[in-house]
Amino acid sequence: MSSPPIQRALERIDLLGSISDNSNFRVRTLLSPANRRAAATLKDWMEKAGLTVEHTIDGSVRGILPGSNPEAPALLLGSHFDTVIDAGAYDGPLGILSALAAIETLQEEGIELPFPVHILGFSDEEGVRFHTTYIGSLGMLGQLDKARKAATDKDGNSLSFVLATEGWSNDASEICYQAENVRGYVELHIEQGRVLEELQLPACGVSALVGQTRLKVIIEGQADHAGTTPMPIRRDALAGAAECIVELERLAKECESAVATVGQIEVHPGAANAIPQTATFSVDLRHADNEERLRLKNEFLKNFKFIAARRGLTLNWQTILNDDATPCDTRLTEQILDSVETTTGHRTTLVSGAGHDGVIFSRITPIGMIFVRCRDGLSHHPDEYASPEDIAIGIEILVHFLRQQSTSQDG
Ligand code: GLV
Ligand code: MN
Ligand code: MN
Repeated sequence: MSSPPIQRALERIDLLGSISDNSNFRVRTLLSPANRRAAATLKDWMEKAGLTVEHTIDGSVRGILPGSNPEAPALLLGSHFDTVIDAGAYDGPLGILSALAAIETLQEEGIELPFPVHILGFSDEEGVRFHTTYIGSLGMLGQLDKARKAATDKDGNSLSFVLATEGWSNDASEICYQAENVRGYVELHIEQGRVLEELQLPACGVSALVGQTRLKVIIEGQADHAGTTPMPIRRDALAGAAECIVELERLAKECESAVATVGQIEVHPGAANAIPQTATFSVDLRHADNEERLRLKNEFLKNFKFIAARRGLTLNWQTILNDDATPCDTRLTEQILDSVETTTGHRTTLVSGAGHDGVIFSRITPIGMIFVRCRDGLSHHPDEYASPEDIAIGIEILVHFLRQQSTSQDG
């Protein structure tokens, strides 16, 4: 039988999961109506637990529990609550709601921590609306750079315009963490892979997060009539893009541990009876080794150029993201592993193939992560699932970690 905080966390995951902008599938993107409702719901739950809650202009949420020494550097816990399109309910929300359940458990035990805990809910991390990730965490560090602010959504509005015109002004406050005010950032997340299931482990620590390169590739050809233009003289941008995409897949399969994905493509003019003039597609390339990632990027771009030239097409690309692999802090990870071991009997770490807001927080503070097993490793899919038993173990790990932190001499 679960404790009330764990039971509440499970119910809250379902409740938050029911908040969507689309009645047929789950989606919450930056400052959408569902994103705002989800933020208000989180605020309500955090306030019920006695946290003082603020939200930033992008709708991210921060709940503060001062502890017995409000001036001490804060421990940051949390994750994101924006989603991909047709998402599951666990990617992101599990980290926020597990943190809340861990705090509620300590409150039930009458334990007051000797430092503040901030529970953070970011919007957004997935980058669906602006094709650029980590907007919430970058905002909280005051590090939203010009390039990200200039990114545009599908209506052509820039992020800076949207923040100024749609931003959550009610009680909005700029939250800029500095290194000296923070003792660490810890995020609990579903694994989003199959390793824990194969190892038959409910949870583990994380040693590092892979590096990521994201590009927008634009191939330009010549639109013409689909019925009257002979095949040999066509300059079909989409056919060129298709060849590039298959070439990318071939190269990634040849390179051990690399993963490459084209998840978005747009065609102009996009009519059944017109040869495509322009094909614009995304590339998401990840590898734990930075040199290998850059080598692969240079190789596929060289081959893309060759394919485009052979077909009489022009090729351009923009770099959307170029993040090197991020190691988790060794000391903090050892502390997390002490809690993982006490709770599960194992001391396992994985490398995260997914990006997480810790990548951004590692710029100012030690970061650590806890992974919880998810069914079939499935994520970014509505069938994403973590069992109540595994979630309970994840929360127990967090509770143990917080208890340890409250008694450790050196903080
Ligand atoms: C975030 O979920 C990512 O794309 O890794
Ligand atoms: Mn995700
Ligand atoms: Mn996530």
